[in-house]
Formats: sequence, structure tokens, C-alpha cells
Amino acid sequence: MMTEVKGTARALFEHYPGLAQTLAHTPLADLPAPVARWEGFARDLDVDAVWVKCDDVTGAIYGGNKVRKLEFLLGRAVAAGAGAVITFGAAGSNHALATAIYARALGLDACSMLVPQHNAHTVRRNLLRGYAAGALLRHHANKALVAVDVARQIRQYWKKHGHLPHLIPPGGTSPIGIVGYVNAALELADQIAAGELPQPDRIYVASGTMGTCVGLCLGFQLAGLAIPVHAIRVTRPSFSNDERARRLHTATVKHLRAHDASVPEAAFPDAGFVHRHEFYGEDYALYTEASVAAVRRVRETEGVRLEGTYTGKALAALMADAAQGALHGQKVLFWNTYNSREVEDGGLMYTALPEAVHRYFEEAVQALDVPMAQLLAPR
Ligand SMILES: Cc1ncc(COP(=O)(O)O)c(C=O)c1O
Repeated sequence: MMTEVKGTARALFEHYPGLAQTLAHTPLADLPAPVARWEGFARDLDVDAVWVKCDDVTGAIYGGNKVRKLEFLLGRAVAAGAGAVITFGAAGSNHALATAIYARALGLDACSMLVPQHNAHTVRRNLLRGYAAGALLRHHANKALVAVDVARQIRQYWKKHGHLPHLIPPGGTSPIGIVGYVNAALELADQIAAGELPQPDRIYVASGTMGTCVGLCLGFQLAGLAIPVHAIRVTRPSFSNDERARRLHTATVKHLRAHDASVPEAAFPDAGFVHRHEFYGEDYALYTEASVAAVRRVRETEGVRLEGTYTGKALAALMADAAQGALHGQKVLFWNTYNSREVEDGGLMYTALPEAVHRYFEEAVQALDVPMAQLLAPR
């Protein structure tokens, strides 16, 4: 079992040593995440260079963007003496899976409160993996039923253990979790300063619950770098909207300054945040032709596996901008937020899972998941 460690080598703590003493943090990630250049992918696109921040390998047992947030979220849970965490997401949530995997690594119980989503192979895989990681999977038709069940789970946990489980918000997005992406931006700033890559003219990243893009914007502000973050909205507007970005940014600045007054005041960077809505398609987790084409191109040119809900849509934005000549002569960076580590599902049959999720295995996947599944199959 890992224990809480303060003062781990993180760009954030090097820039603001006071935070290393005051912020609860558990090292889960293997940082800095590398950067790479996608030359094959960029060939024939009207762009000078495409770089990638490889957050797919943030953690040895599970990568992706959630690991950075969980360092602070689970750090807080451990510091509070919690024995269990409850988190929230759609049925195939990468965040719920990452929480289950890292909670277990820390010796905590995990419960995933899930709501319906469009069906895909990734949903099936994540449900099996979450269950194999020991998470209690609870699936409900809507948020109101989730709220009732959360109250029930908390009561039961209290009766059994005499203390409360720790709640982690959807996507790990709260000022506590966002700090993980402030750290990520400072980490990239250090890599730029060290000459590992040029300063990008813009960054493309998927925006789900907005923690990733807001943390990046704030981190670049703190680093004094003017790099516009193109936040590609992939969720419904109630999750990804400008007002929410502004509120999260303000709350994160307040959170950091409460722990270390040397963190400067920073107003929401209007020019540094470009919220893009045109790649969403018809719904959250419903793939688009453009996202499948983006996943195909990067699989064929770089051998990298993305998916259709988040990263495929973000990369489709980059490709569309290049096709329109908007990236002519520019160096851009794609932030890869999707886990690429192999995760065991223990060879489980879906019938071992709670009955409420059997439908994902018994009903057809969405039509565009058929070409997607072929692209993602091992060669
Ligand atoms: C692969 C992937 N990319 C991007 C995101 C979006 O990150 P955020 O919720 O911080 O906006 C998620 C969120 O679940 C994700 O799983």
C-alpha cells in the first residue's frame, strides 16, 4: 500500500515550494510525461509540426489524464483518513475506472455511481476492468436515482465502518483535481524551457468536465506562456460551458492561494481559452465520422490508439483546422488524455457484473463503433 507523501518532485512544487508542504498529494504518476513529434501524422496536413504530450502513459498501471487529478484527490482522501471513495460518471467512464484502480493501489474501497451512455466496446471493457479492480458498480437510469443511492451507500458505510466515504466529483473536476493539470502545464513549460519541444502556437485537448483544459490555462498563465488552449467540447453544454470554466478557474486560484500566498492572482484568460463546439456531433459518447477518421489516421501513421468519445473528437478538430489552412506554418500540440496501458479484466464474463449493466453486453454497440473497434484491435 502506498502512503501519502508530501513534497514529491512535481513541477508545481518546484515553482511553489510552499504548496509541497501544504497540499495533500499522493504520488501515483510517473512524471514528467514525455513529449513526441508526430511526423507521419502531420505529413500532407497544412501544419508545420504536430507535437503530442503523452499523458497516455502518466501512470504505470493506468495512464490518461485522470491520474494527474487523482494524485491530489486521492491524496486528500488519504489525508482525511477515508477508507473508501465514491465517484460518478457515465457507464464507460475512464475516470471511474482510473479511480477504482488507484484507490485499490492505495488500499481504499471504491464505488462507481454510473449513469447510461451510448454503447461501445470501450464501455464493456471499462465495466469489466472496473469490476476486476474491485469497484462496487452501481448503475442508475438518472442522476436523481444516483443521489438516493449515494445517500444509501454512505449510510451503510457509516454503519459498518463508523466513518464516511470520500466523494470525488465526476471527471475528478474540482479545484483539488484541477491542480493536477496546473502541474501538467508547468511541466510542459519546463520541457519547452529545456528545449524538448518548441513553444506550441496552440494546444488541442478534449473538454469533458473541463478540469483538464482549465488547469492547463491556469498553469500556462502561471508560467507566463501565452499558449491558446483549444478546448474541444465533447460533453453536453451543462458540463462544458464558458461560465463553468470561469468559475472553476477562479476557485482553483483561490484554492492554490489559500495554500500558498506566493501563487499570484490570475483572472480567467479570455484570450487563452478557445472553447470549440463544432466537433461534438449529436451527443456525448456518440462518435462522429470525423472522430473515426482521426482515430484511423493516427493509428495508421503513428500506431497510437485513441477512442471516439474524447480524443478522436479533439484530434478531428486539429485535422479540420489544418484542412482549412488555419494552422499553416504553425506548431501545434495535441494533448493525449487517453490511457494506453494494458489493463486486465481478469477474464471475467459479463454475467459476473451487476445485472443493471448487462444491457451493454447484450445490446448492439453504436454503428460507428464497428469501424472503431477494427481500428483498435491489436495488429
Ligand atoms: C480520455 C479522456 N480525455 C479527456 C477527458 C476530459 O477531461 P476533463 O473531464 O478534465 O475535461 C476525459 C474525461 O473523462 C477522458 O476520459
